[in-house]
Amino acid sequence: MKFKLAVLPGDGVGPELMNEEVKVLEALGKRFGHSFDLKYGLIGGIAIDKEGTALSEDTLEMCRQSDAVVMIAVGGPKWDNPKAKVRPEDGLLALRKGLALFANIRPVFTNDIMVDATPLKADIVKGTDLIVVRELTGGLYFGRPKRQWTTTRGRRAVDTMSYSEQEIERIVRVGFELARKRRKKLTSVDKANVLQSSRLWRQVTSEVAKDYPDIALDNMLVDTCAMRLIQKPTYFDVIVTENTFGDILTDEASLLAGSMGMLPSASLAGVPQEGKKILGFYEPIHGSAPDIAGQNKANPIASILSLAMMCRYSLGLSPEAQALEEIIAAVLKEGYRTPDIMSEGKKMVGTKEMGDVVAKKIAKYT
Ligand code: IPM
Ligand code: MG
Repeated sequence: MKFKLAVLPGDGVGPELMNEEVKVLEALGKRFGHSFDLKYGLIGGIAIDKEGTALSEDTLEMCRQSDAVVMIAVGGPKWDNPKAKVRPEDGLLALRKGLALFANIRPVFTNDIMVDATPLKADIVKGTDLIVVRELTGGLYFGRPKRQWTTTRGRRAVDTMSYSEQEIERIVRVGFELARKRRKKLTSVDKANVLQSSRLWRQVTSEVAKDYPDIALDNMLVDTCAMRLIQKPTYFDVIVTENTFGDILTDEASLLAGSMGMLPSASLAGVPQEGKKILGFYEPIHGSAPDIAGQNKANPIASILSLAMMCRYSLGLSPEAQALEEIIAAVLKEGYRTPDIMSEGKKMVGTKEMGDVVAKKIAKYT
């Protein structure tokens, strides 16, 4: 099959990790008989420097015309001025809104080889396998009013956490659909003891639950969830929550995996269902790591796993997704490690070498 992909390397380690993604895509295409038509675009700091905006209208349009969009990360000290009119992150937010990517899917999986790399006790994190479904185009990030102004008594600012029932329903459905393919447990996270938007969230969630009698639903307050995540992460299967809560909880949850270099993410413009292709955006959860950019040190595993998510949700290629995930597990089992996950007795490799090992295994995959 033929697929059109928009490729946005971004800043910092973006370009070098994208090289490995492309290497893996080529190997995958060869092995499984697909061709990927890649169109490159700029996003983030590099787009600000070269095009004067963090995401141009042309690049956004190119993304709209694609089956999926792959990106690495944006940002760096060069663009970190709090007074700047435009920031690299604006490109990311414009893309989320511009492509209506309302469902952010962040799996957190603790590989057995990583249990000692986390700051938590090994027996707590061992066996962690959860997915956070974060609402991505509403809540405090986009709600109006949103501004800062000066009054006679000083400066003031406001952000608005606002949700419609339609926005809640579609994201909660994503949670139920994913839970159905896993351990059939959904935890909806809110702050219904204080917030109106959370009370509506809870009402809508219990209405949608009627369509999913096979799923065990529980509601949890966000502060309790923050605690529970490090106390007993294996409690969770799928978590669904609003934008800001999801932002905070997913950074916390990423620690359970041992390294940010291992976790992929997907942002979708629809509810995933078997056989349905949805426009999606795929990125590792780690940032642009400007401190190690250009040094062949960055870990490409999260990026490669984000391609697996793309195969599954946007391209209708579940066997290819599974192949990639199996190959990454095998590579780790054989002892290959980038510096961020290196431990005694293992084989240390650079970004490129890790990509090569993966590409070779794809070619031989049966
Ligand atoms: C994330 C990031 C972004 C967010 C920033 C870079 C705007 O923290 O993807 O979690 O807050 O959504
Ligand atoms: Mg975040």
